Amino acid sequence: MKFSSIVSGLALASAAVASPACKRGKYPTTTVAGIEVIDTPIVRAVRTFIETYYKDYQPYLTNHLYRTWLFGAAAINSNATLKAELDLEVHAVGSMLHDLGWDIKPHSPYVTADYSFEIDSGRFAMEWIKNWTAINGGADEWDEVRLQKVNLGIMLQTFIGAPDFVFLDSQWITKSVGFEFPVGESPLIGSTNYNNIWAAYSNDTLFRGTNYTFTNMAVYKPEATYKTFLSDFGNNYVPGYNSTDYTLFALIQAGLDGEVAEYPDVPFVQKIPPNGGNPLM
Ligand SMILES: *[C@@H]1O[C@H](CO)[C@@H](O)[C@H](O)[C@H]1NC(C)=O
Ligand SMILES: *[C@@H]1O[C@H](CO)[C@@H](O)[C@H](O)[C@H]1NC(C)=O
Ligand SMILES: *[C@@H]1O[C@H](CO)[C@@H](O)[C@H](O)[C@H]1NC(C)=O
Ligand SMILES: *[C@@H]1O[C@H](CO)[C@@H](O)[C@H](O)[C@H]1NC(C)=O
Ligand SMILES: *[C@@H]1O[C@H](CO)[C@@H](O)[C@H](O)[C@H]1NC(C)=O
Repeated sequence: MKFSSIVSGLALASAAVASPACKRGKYPTTTVAGIEVIDTPIVRAVRTFIETYYKDYQPYLTNHLYRTWLFGAAAINSNATLKAELDLEVHAVGSMLHDLGWDIKPHSPYVTADYSFEIDSGRFAMEWIKNWTAINGGADEWDEVRLQKVNLGIMLQTFIGAPDFVFLDSQWITKSVGFEFPVGESPLIGSTNYNNIWAAYSNDTLFRGTNYTFTNMAVYKPEATYKTFLSDFGNNYVPGYNSTDYTLFALIQAGLDGEVAEYPDVPFVQKIPPNGGNPLM
C-alpha cells in the first residue's frame, strides 16, 4: 500500500468542504514520480481506490491508470496557458477512472452486459463521483457539466478524432489515455518525465493484461463487442465467436436485400458531380 492510501483516510475526515480545486484558483499539489499533480480529497480517494481495488486480479491497471494521469499532468505542466485553462481535478479523476469497465470482479458495479467498456467506464465514473460526494461532501461542485466532462473524456477514449471537438477538459482525459499508446515519445512530456513515470509505474504487463481483458469481454458479453474493435479479439481468440452476421455491414446488406425485394421496379441512378463524388475535391 502506498503512502497516499494512508494519508487519504485522514484527508477524507477533513474534507467536508472541498474547494473547487481547479481553474478557479489555487489548489493543493503534491509530487508523484517527479510530476507536480493536484492533491484534493477526491483525487486522493481515487488514488486509494485504484491502488487497492485492482490488487487481486488486475494490478497492471493500477500502473496504467497512474501513468495515464501522470503523462497527462506532465504534458499539461509544460504549458502554463493550458494548465490555467484546465480543470485539473476533472482531468485527474477522469484519467484514473477511465477503465472502470475493465473490471472482472464478481458482480462488478462497473460493468454491464449491454454496453461497451467505454460507455460503462464513463457512466460509472460519474456514479463513482456522485457516490463519493454524497458521503464526503462537494456534490455542489460536481455539477452536471463537470460530470459530463469526465463522462465524455472517458467514453470517447477509443473513438479516434471525436474528442477533438468536445470540452477541452474532456479532450485532455482522452489525450492522456493516448499517451499510453505512443508513436514515439511526446515532446510535451520529455524523456526525464517518461523515465520517472515508467520507473515508478512499470508498463511491463500492460499489453498482456489488455489482451486478456479484451478477449474476455468477447467471451462474457459478445453482443456488446460485435460492432466494435473488440470483435477482432473475439474472431481471433474465442472459439465459437463470429461477428460476421452482426456487423453494421451485415445490417446494411440485409436492409439492401430487403429494399430491392420490396421496390424492385424503382430505378436508382446515383448522379455523380464533377468531383467524381469526392467531397474533399
Ligand atoms: C499551450 O496551450 C494553449 C492553450 O490550449 C495553446 O493555444 C498553445 O498552442 C499551447 N502552446 C504550445 C507550445 O503547445
Ligand atoms: C453507488 O452507490 C450505490 C449504493 O451504495 C451502489 O449500489 C452503486 O454500485 C455505487 N456505484 C458505483 C459506480 O460505485
Ligand atoms: C514501457 O516502458 C519502457 C521503459 O521501462 C519503455 O522503454 C517503453 O517504450 C514503454 N512501452 C510503451 C509501449 O510505452
Ligand atoms: C492473447 O490472448 C489470447 C486469448 O486469451 C491468448 O490465446 C494469447 O496467448 C494471448 N497472447 C499473449 C501474447 O499473451
Ligand atoms: C462466420 O459466419 C459467416 C456467416 O455466417 C460464415 O460465412 C463464416 O464461415 C463464419 N466463420 C467462421 C470462422 O466460422
